[in-house]
Amino acid sequence: MEQFDVVVIGAGAAGLFCAAQAGQAGLRVMVLDNGKKPGRKILMSGGGRCNFTNLYIEPAAYLSSNPHFCKSALARYTQWDFIDMVSRHGIAWHEKTLGQLFCDDSAEQIVTMLMDECQQGNVTLRLRSEVLTIERNEQGYTLQLNGAEIHANKLVIASGGLSMPGLGASPFGYKVAEQFGLPVLPTRAGLVPFTLHKPLLEQLQTLSGVSLPAIVTAQDGTQFRENILFTHRGMSGPAVLQISSYWRAGEPVVVNLAPDGGVDALLDEQRQAHPNQSLKNTLALLLPKRLIEVLMSLGFVPDVTLKQLNARQQADLVARLSQWEVVPNGTEGYRTAEVTLGGVDTHALSSRTMEARTVPGLYFIGEVVDVTGWLGGYNFQWAWSSAWACAQAL
Ligand code: FDA
Repeated sequence: MEQFDVVVIGAGAAGLFCAAQAGQAGLRVMVLDNGKKPGRKILMSGGGRCNFTNLYIEPAAYLSSNPHFCKSALARYTQWDFIDMVSRHGIAWHEKTLGQLFCDDSAEQIVTMLMDECQQGNVTLRLRSEVLTIERNEQGYTLQLNGAEIHANKLVIASGGLSMPGLGASPFGYKVAEQFGLPVLPTRAGLVPFTLHKPLLEQLQTLSGVSLPAIVTAQDGTQFRENILFTHRGMSGPAVLQISSYWRAGEPVVVNLAPDGGVDALLDEQRQAHPNQSLKNTLALLLPKRLIEVLMSLGFVPDVTLKQLNARQQADLVARLSQWEVVPNGTEGYRTAEVTLGGVDTHALSSRTMEARTVPGLYFIGEVVDVTGWLGGYNFQWAWSSAWACAQAL
């Protein structure tokens, strides 16, 4: 039987980083994964350039049933610590927008960096490994794998959430939590496009590919101002992905198609200058033409000239553009979701070490835990910070 101080299950962002830190602290560490290569989601992330953190990390950017849980780890291992590491490895990066940091070249550099760090810690990596059983005894944990039995004094679960099963996602971590009597909160897809009911989808079908800035508001008042994108299934784009994490089935979201306001002022000014100009051509100064055609078919935009547009119609138009209520049919689900909301209940874990309060030597880090960040590097930062906090305690 092979013997390790620590076995980390999941060679993703959190698992590799935790294994590297623990190995460099002198522990004998094995990290194992069911896939053929490590860091598969990292490779896919940020359009192949990995949005590895965000300049504006703050606990308010994370959803959890226990909003205080993420504070300690995020404060002790910050975005600046990770940026230092990236820079030490000579990886060039840039801010794209809203504090989002990407590699200049390729996400592969982040995986290479993590693998180099693991090598410095003499970490053993075992791929294509299925964990068949886990047993806890006085000395720690015995794992039956396909083809081997290993023993670990401590066990770290970093097997991620359910999003993108094609990249190896599995409910493994939740099952381990349940095996050891830890509560798991219901999971759902987050940072995911909306699908629409057929009638609305048919009305919007000509808009597929149209993108524009908007403010999207969920029923709890949370709102994001970024682009929305109409797709052949429904709606996507960063503002929609963000709000999807706050949306519950059956609820509407409110879309403000004129986020800078100024519709009244524009119409009044244009009416003075060009009274015979059509309303639709005037709105084309603000919105994509294809969208205006659809808004006309939805009855939001009357087919009139500016001088025909009366005060009541103008007020209605402004209200409809700024408060378009859309009730999504659902989301595209885990198939395309960037993250999984819910997961191992943080009330059962120490926020300082990520160790299960009732199961000594068992730790949960990264996305498997009920901490989910916004779009824009927040989820990787949670992976790094929770992994670091755990590694200090191993
Ligand atoms: P992660 O999913 O990275 O790793 C889990 C590992 O466990 C996987 O390697 C998996 O194969 C393994 N595993 C699962 N079940 C197992 C089992 N039964 N046995 C053994 N191993 C098992 N975030 C961000 O901040 N910036 C970004 O740019 C992006 N971009 C992005 C793009 C796409 C397409 C997706 C799907 C997601 C993102 N994300 C993101 C989210 C980010 O990828 C995610 O939050 C982190 O990868 C979570 O890190 P973990 O290490 O917790 O899980």
